[in-house]
Amino acid sequence: MQLIPRIADRTVVIGVVGLGYVGLSVAVALASAGFQVVGVDVDVERVAMISAGECPIRGSEPELAELLARVTASKKLAVFADYAPLATADVVLVDVDTPVSSDGRARFVSLRAACGALGGVMKPGVLVVVESTVAPGTCTGVVAPTLEKASGRKLNEGFFLGHCPERVMPGRLLGNLRELPRPCGGESPETCEAMVALYSTITRGRLETCDCLTAELVKTAENAYRDVNIAFANELGMICEAVGADFRRVRELVNQSPGRDLLVAGAGVGGHCIPKDPWLLAQAVRGQWEATPRLISAARGVNDAMPVHVTHLVEDALGELGVPVHGAKITVYGYAYLEDSDDVRNSPSQVLIDRLSELGARVAVHDPWVRAYAGDMYAVADGASAAVLMVAHTSYRDLDLGRLKRVLARPVLVDGRFLVESRAARDAGFVFRGLGRGEKTT
Ligand SMILES: NC(=O)c1ccc[n+]([C@@H]2O[C@H](COP(=O)([O-])OP(=O)(O)OC[C@H]3O[C@@H](n4cnc5c(N)ncnc54)[C@H](O)[C@@H]3O)[C@@H](O)[C@H]2O)c1
Repeated sequence: MQLIPRIADRTVVIGVVGLGYVGLSVAVALASAGFQVVGVDVDVERVAMISAGECPIRGSEPELAELLARVTASKKLAVFADYAPLATADVVLVDVDTPVSSDGRARFVSLRAACGALGGVMKPGVLVVVESTVAPGTCTGVVAPTLEKASGRKLNEGFFLGHCPERVMPGRLLGNLRELPRPCGGESPETCEAMVALYSTITRGRLETCDCLTAELVKTAENAYRDVNIAFANELGMICEAVGADFRRVRELVNQSPGRDLLVAGAGVGGHCIPKDPWLLAQAVRGQWEATPRLISAARGVNDAMPVHVTHLVEDALGELGVPVHGAKITVYGYAYLEDSDDVRNSPSQVLIDRLSELGARVAVHDPWVRAYAGDMYAVADGASAAVLMVAHTSYRDLDLGRLKRVLARPVLVDGRFLVESRAARDAGFVFRGLGRGEKTT
């Protein structure tokens, strides 16, 4: 592989397949670092928008829109809805979505399609790097055979394969790309060396080499670890609520004990990654063990149930005023899965909305970052019997309790994100329920 000197002098052409949160960010970062980048996505509208220099990501995303406009204007980034232009690429990064189905298994529909199409056009000697999160064993078990079949070439002879899982978070896409350490998993030592040379042009983070399997395990394990820790915080939050304590005070004191880093309880876990990556990790051993890994699936169960728990808080608060959920208008604040983001994938709010609707409520939704739900946040609550805070968007932190109470038909407020103090809500005349806050605390 003669890539390293050509990476240094920026003469390699880099392809990026999948221009979503991850692929668009890395394409912009590489083009800004001086590479010629060719992006491909099957979403024709997205390709048209990016070609016009418009950023399709709407949340607060420092620098992304400006840099995107610059690299498309200078033609350092050119994007297409077909794979033919990837024939010029020396390195191709694969950034397609990798969801799991309702049974918790990934079928890698986008990944298989992308590799099949790429294999048909890629040039001899190309380095293919999977950045998408995949189940352990996918690079050698799915990606390599699909590329071999479609290209008629052999791994480590006619093409090279690596896995450098992405670690970005919406809201900090470019900042994370530049700063975070990453494992560079390669199926040969030369592949690892070329990956380190490439990624060191866009990140100051530490780059350590390993094989693809190790990199796959690292990524899925780090997100499963987070999910399990969030589940513990959520379970403790519900225990505090049940016995009449304040989770935040308990957490504060727990974290004074050495080596403890208890996370914050909340109304649910969403996004494209944390709800599915634990299942990708579990998928690696399904059928080989006596059972599915138990801790991982238990944690998923706890976190998935959090918006259902919020439904119970709403029912309980309305019940105090003798108001049935059936027929009541209920306003849900926040639809994105994360504060100040437009990412609505696996939104916990949708679970709450579905549950309340099943119970006969009329649900109104507000989210400043999601076009379909933007608008005046108080107008959305007009005549509602309850308001529920589901996402800690910055604009919700300055909630005017007096104004909210004036527009509501009933003074019921439920807080799933520690945005409102119980005492302030009660002083303003609300019937209040706060996730993680029991009745004895105010
Ligand atoms: N979103 C995050 O914060 C994040 C963070 C770390 C890792 N990841 C991982 O990165 C991967 C991508 O995530 P994302 O959030 O960018 O997803 P996304 O859904 O925003 O983007 C995926 C893009 O791939 C395109 N695509 C699908 N099939 C294609 C095909 N056959 N050919 C070309 N394009 C195709 C889609 O149209 C879409 O634009 C996933 O594996 C995810 O788990 C995501």
